[in-house]
Amino acid sequence: MESIKSKVAFVTGGSRGIGQAIVSKLASERVNVAFTYTNSEKTANQLAFELSTNETKVIAIKADSGNTDSIISAIKVANDALGNFDILVNNAGIAGNAMLPDVTIADFDRMVAVNIKGVFVATQAAVALMNDNGRIINIGSVAAERSVFPTGSVYAMTKAAVAGLTRGIARDLAPRGITANTVQPGPIETDMNPADSPFADIIRGYVALGRYGTKSDIAELVAFLASPSAKFITGASINIDGGLVS
Ligand SMILES: NC(=O)c1ccc[n+]([C@@H]2O[C@H](COP(=O)([O-])OP(=O)(O)OC[C@H]3O[C@@H](n4cnc5c(N)ncnc54)[C@H](OP(=O)(O)O)[C@@H]3O)[C@@H](O)[C@H]2O)c1
Repeated sequence: MESIKSKVAFVTGGSRGIGQAIVSKLASERVNVAFTYTNSEKTANQLAFELSTNETKVIAIKADSGNTDSIISAIKVANDALGNFDILVNNAGIAGNAMLPDVTIADFDRMVAVNIKGVFVATQAAVALMNDNGRIINIGSVAAERSVFPTGSVYAMTKAAVAGLTRGIARDLAPRGITANTVQPGPIETDMNPADSPFADIIRGYVALGRYGTKSDIAELVAFLASPSAKFITGASINIDGGLVS
């Protein structure tokens, strides 16, 4: 993989889980990173402190991806602190499980706000401050392609929307050399999807490799897509799912 040293990244939802692994991997490649969180203030500030070095800045910004003003203001803070962006990772996302009759409109609206509108708003705002040949990496889900058990309809809808949005963005931004791709994880052990949940054995049964993946599996792919080595990959939805969709 070609170097991404000294690039500037903005990552949403970087305090825990997959986002935390992405922030850590980018920082280890000496990328300057601004990341957002909503609740985990202490964890986020600790992570930023631990990853910052004389050469690499990592900053944590409290910002709700479900709130347009909050995202736009976080992008401005990050831009003032680190300069124009080379890499945007839209990772923040929420899941909700309910059978169709039990889905509340409030839960529907919140999932759409964070998982779809938040991705659009962050992308529009960050692209205005992005260098040519930049990289947009959206964290979707294999749920966009396959539902393996009930109760995930709205979540699956939001992740399918992310893949569609990303394909469109890839076309819009191609003249600037900016690529846009969707990374679609299968089951990855995090607070959102614990490997010992009541669903875990059902999920494992659909995975060809028979196990959950790790958040660093996703971070490695994101770092590659963020690098110059990935310059001919755009508009793609890349499953990283142990063969769940195969
Ligand atoms: N885990 C899986 O199996 C899996 C599979 C497919 C796709 N994904 C996708 O991968 C992404 C990360 O999932 P995860 O499993 O790492 O989730 P997670 O363990 O729940 O962590 C979520 C992270 O996002 C942040 N966040 C949540 N809502 C936010 C909001 N409204 N605004 C800003 N930040 C917010 C959280 O911040 P706080 O710490 O402040 O709460 C936390 O840092 C999501 O888009 C998810 O849909 C996950």
